[in-house]
Amino acid sequence: MKAKVSASRTQAVSKIDPRIYGSFIEHLGRAVYEGIYEPGHPTANEKGFRQDVIDAINELNVPLVRYPGGNFVSGFKWEDSIGPVEDRPKRLELAWRSIETNEVGLHEFMEWSRQANTEVNMAVNLGTRGIDAARNLLEYCNHSGGTYWSDLRKENGDEEPFNIKTWCLGNEMDGPWQIGAKTADEYGRLAEETAKVMKLVDDSIELVVCGSSSSKMPTFGEWEYTVLDHAYENVDFLSLHLYWENFENDLPNYLAKSMEMDRFIKDVVAICDAVKAKKGSDKQINLSFDEWNVWYHSKDADAKRDPWDIAPPLLEDIYNFEDALLVGCGLITLLNNADRVKIACLAQLVNVIAPIMTIKDGKVWKQPTFYPFMQASNFGRGTVLTTLTEAPTYDSAEYKDVSYIESTVIHNEEENEVVIFAVNRSEDSELQVESVLEGFDGLSVKEATELAGYDPKLTTKENHDAMEIKSNDSVELNDSKVSATFKPLSWNMIRLS
Ligand code: AHR
Repeated sequence: MKAKVSASRTQAVSKIDPRIYGSFIEHLGRAVYEGIYEPGHPTANEKGFRQDVIDAINELNVPLVRYPGGNFVSGFKWEDSIGPVEDRPKRLELAWRSIETNEVGLHEFMEWSRQANTEVNMAVNLGTRGIDAARNLLEYCNHSGGTYWSDLRKENGDEEPFNIKTWCLGNEMDGPWQIGAKTADEYGRLAEETAKVMKLVDDSIELVVCGSSSSKMPTFGEWEYTVLDHAYENVDFLSLHLYWENFENDLPNYLAKSMEMDRFIKDVVAICDAVKAKKGSDKQINLSFDEWNVWYHSKDADAKRDPWDIAPPLLEDIYNFEDALLVGCGLITLLNNADRVKIACLAQLVNVIAPIMTIKDGKVWKQPTFYPFMQASNFGRGTVLTTLTEAPTYDSAEYKDVSYIESTVIHNEEENEVVIFAVNRSEDSELQVESVLEGFDGLSVKEATELAGYDPKLTTKENHDAMEIKSNDSVELNDSKVSATFKPLSWNMIRLS
């Protein structure tokens, strides 16, 4: 099959906000305990953080980590997590029905984020708590000193403010499973007042208000409109969450599911702009896709678990090659919508629906989804160009006119580089791709790679080295025309400079 991918230097979608390569650590399962934190592990540093995990995260180049939840945050009392560790209460954690020891708390996580070279996207509890807890937490984190909460931070060991810039106003407040779930009017008013007060404490912060937990929620659309109608002027981003499943084991349909992400983004943009028009506002609300991933492999096992363990193995999806391809399609979709998607968090980062897994007292290993994320995050920086693709299409069980190729073209001005990412969705046909890049002279191929040739169900659980990125020797460049062969079921990257 043949495909054409064209882009022009002068036709840009948008600059890429680096926060689009964010991720997520929740106090859930083994994400924190036995994940990022395991005192006594051979690689643990003096604070108990695993250096091998930090090294793997650094390979992913993650600029932002959402914390501490997720569903967890809606029952969390942040004050439990400060002060001497031996005085911190152990609590029943109701979202995941576990025991939270609070051994890793606010200061420890901030220390970890510095070590991991990432910023924190902090969520406040708008489930069981409200304005007062949120503004106190913000004062504790960001105020320089001379007040009760900021001085308490100093007493607890951090003289300098944490200066956290991005904050989430609760989590999935539309979901009936959420502790303290609310109607759109209840949440919209609370979010508006909390946002107003938080910006009085620190007007340099940016706030993410909760959109729907998924586009399949019965209140989707109405929820976004109502919440924004209340909170528009005090918030900066609206959140979107999406998890993919392949229970039906239908590969062509599964790989098309990134189209749902694209549709979701465009629908939410339309709602944001409808509220903008109604209000006659000059302000634009952008999107924070602050939970996205594949999540289904572990659901049956988790449903059978008994409650009240400390750090039980939960949501430990073992990903396969087809999941990596869909995550690749998701990354491309986020990039092609970079004009409105400014933050995105792959949910999650370690052990819990994660690209990075740990073995207690043992190794760290990489899931198949690690590889497309690593390449996109490291090389997908700069400006996304408007990408025109011409390719054959197919119809699947749920989607019509699915292009066999999903692709994006990025111009990294700083590195003087043009980068193409592409997924070939076909199970049996190579794609002969021609790419015309207007306005770029004197380019040469710097690197061309593929993740290809694997059984769709192959995982890296038993053989951690079962998958690797290999070079693609088919890539040629004539003037500003690139020709390449993308293997059936492949994730591809071409770097030109
Ligand atoms: O990421 C796992 C969970 O998925 C989060 O806690 C919640 O926000 C979502 O439902």
